[in-house]
Amino acid sequence: MRVLGIESSCDETAVAIVDDGRRRLADLVLSQLTEHRPFGGVVPEIAARSHLGQLDRLIARALAQAGMKPHELDAIAATAGPGLIGGVLVGVTMGKAMALALDRPFLAINHLEGHALSARLDPGVAFPYLLLLVSGGHCQLLRVEGVGRYRRLGTTVDDAAGEAFDKGAKILGLGYPGGPAIEQAAARAKAAGIDPDAYGLPRPMLGRPGCDFSFSGLKTALRQRAQERAADGALPERDGLALALQESIAAVLADRTAHALEAAAAATPRLTALVAAGGVAANQRIRQALERVARAHDLPLVAPPSRLCTDNAAMIAWAGIERLEAGLTDSAHGDGLDFAAR
Ligand code: KG4
Ligand code: ZN
Repeated sequence: MRVLGIESSCDETAVAIVDDGRRRLADLVLSQLTEHRPFGGVVPEIAARSHLGQLDRLIARALAQAGMKPHELDAIAATAGPGLIGGVLVGVTMGKAMALALDRPFLAINHLEGHALSARLDPGVAFPYLLLLVSGGHCQLLRVEGVGRYRRLGTTVDDAAGEAFDKGAKILGLGYPGGPAIEQAAARAKAAGIDPDAYGLPRPMLGRPGCDFSFSGLKTALRQRAQERAADGALPERDGLALALQESIAAVLADRTAHALEAAAAATPRLTALVAAGGVAANQRIRQALERVARAHDLPLVAPPSRLCTDNAAMIAWAGIERLEAGLTDSAHGDGLDFAAR
């Protein structure tokens, strides 16, 4: 079975063709970074127009890369939300049109389900597992029990972890996207021997019962510290503040995940792994913190390769394959995941 996936819910136009043997026959991602960078964040109108301008050519390139003709596809899957509605409409309309013309099933895939199942595409974990989904728009802990069976144990009450990185980077003047910029600045601070605790940034929710997250207080504290330090004429310390921010986020993610593992450990069957997915899971310091938590529970930490952690279409095509194999074709509804915009 070979499924074409389309992802257009944010600022990546992506097309992939994946088969049921977990092979990525084509896996293309076009980033719109340079188009949004002057605005310091994603502009929905620009994103939608850019998807519209690129998607048809990207599909043609994916088919050429896979050495396939359109009629050799078994189904078309597209992200149907949550996301920026203009971009989602472009991908869904294109996917439906192809499915109609080729007389193949169309699968409306929840973007979060794509992230949730990406670790089954590579490296191929078995159900059930605990998933920490940390991206620009979401921060959730889910017990993934099967295709379409997701039990949410915790979520953010305000910002997502990726948002904390992005807004933090904006406050510190480190540019967009924030995550990689903060990680690099933090690495410089670490190499310079800066102590992150010296900045006294809070670690919201740490040690509290339950598995929810909160990051907005951290952002406010960072802004205050940055202003104080700027008033002192000492903003070259921004690398130190980036390190402090990253340490706080890593500590909070690890603490909340540990709580979720304790809550999920009692349920049967036993978890096979702790899986970290979403753009923030690309952060090496966060992986290290989660590794420690997983080890304490005698579980492996599984993180899909970075390319599958950030937005991509292979995970959407793969979710389509999993849905087809499970006999579930109406995918973008329910499932216990939350749907912000569709
Ligand atoms: O999963 P993703 O590509 O898109 C969403 O669905 O949101 O995640 C993007 C987010 C952004 O907030 C970005 O700053 C963050 O992931 N991110 C990182 C890193 N790489 C990307 N955060 C921390 N460290 C990184 N290395
Ligand atoms: Zn995403």
